[in-house]
Amino acid sequence: MALAFITGGSKGLGAETARHAVAKGWDVAILDLSREAAQPLLDELPGVRFFEGDVTREETVVAALDALGETPDLLVNNAGILKFALLQDTSFEDFARIVNVNLTAAVNVARLVAARMISRGSGCIINITSSAGIATSPGVNAYAGAKRGLAAMTEMMAQEWGPLGLRINSVAPGMNRGGMSAQVYVDPAIEKRRTAGVPSRRLGTEADIANAVLWLASDEAAYINGHELVVDGGLTKATMSMIPRD
Ligand SMILES: NC(=O)c1ccc[n+]([C@@H]2O[C@H](COP(=O)([O-])OP(=O)(O)OC[C@H]3O[C@@H](n4cnc5c(N)ncnc54)[C@H](O)[C@@H]3O)[C@@H](O)[C@H]2O)c1
Repeated sequence: MALAFITGGSKGLGAETARHAVAKGWDVAILDLSREAAQPLLDELPGVRFFEGDVTREETVVAALDALGETPDLLVNNAGILKFALLQDTSFEDFARIVNVNLTAAVNVARLVAARMISRGSGCIINITSSAGIATSPGVNAYAGAKRGLAAMTEMMAQEWGPLGLRINSVAPGMNRGGMSAQVYVDPAIEKRRTAGVPSRRLGTEADIANAVLWLASDEAAYINGHELVVDGGLTKATMSMIPRD
């Protein structure tokens, strides 16, 4: 059975990706900050292996990969954080942490996993980016730069590791009703206002992202490498449709 290693897979989009992966016959291992927070998912999916730790810590990632005892076939670099604040109100510490988790750690985890995949000669890496890295907005601060940076690094990974048998792509969720955004949409009025600007006229779901990730990981996507798959109902391409015509 193929093995998927999902960072930040305890809840939100990563947890849904774990559910879909298990349903499609993948072995799944998760690395996330807290076993306690992951316990409901681990109870739901008893075969899933869990490693507690922070993706920004090299020794934690290496220990988890060593403990796996086999090289993952799929890495989903999904762990991410966002802290809304205008740029001038963002502390140095918050800025650094946001870049560290969303960009630096994602690249470092990819490098550690890729080294093992390269020895085998095959593997697939999917970095979770964001529409916020494509079409930025005030208050998203370091997250926008980190996600756009991760999309760029995805292209570089494909160029360096593609010839060695790997496929590396990213998936950019748009406005999603799950995960870190769930509390925003508790208010149906906010959802209504926001979906008015989305060509598909709805928010994304956790399943939309899980489906995209697992399709990209499948053989059906065998010739896709270095691509950012935007899963946003058309939002980021709809700028001109939001400009009044008269
Ligand atoms: N939900 C959205 O609207 C949305 C939109 C665009 C992109 N994304 C991206 O999707 C991914 C998943 O986000 P989500 O919405 O499910 O968020 P979430 O907050 O529900 O889940 C993120 C998970 O990452 C884990 N995590 C955070 N920092 C970590 C660290 N240092 N080490 C290990 N694990 C860590 C958290 O514990 C959590 O389980 C993120 O990369 C996020 O940036 C989400």
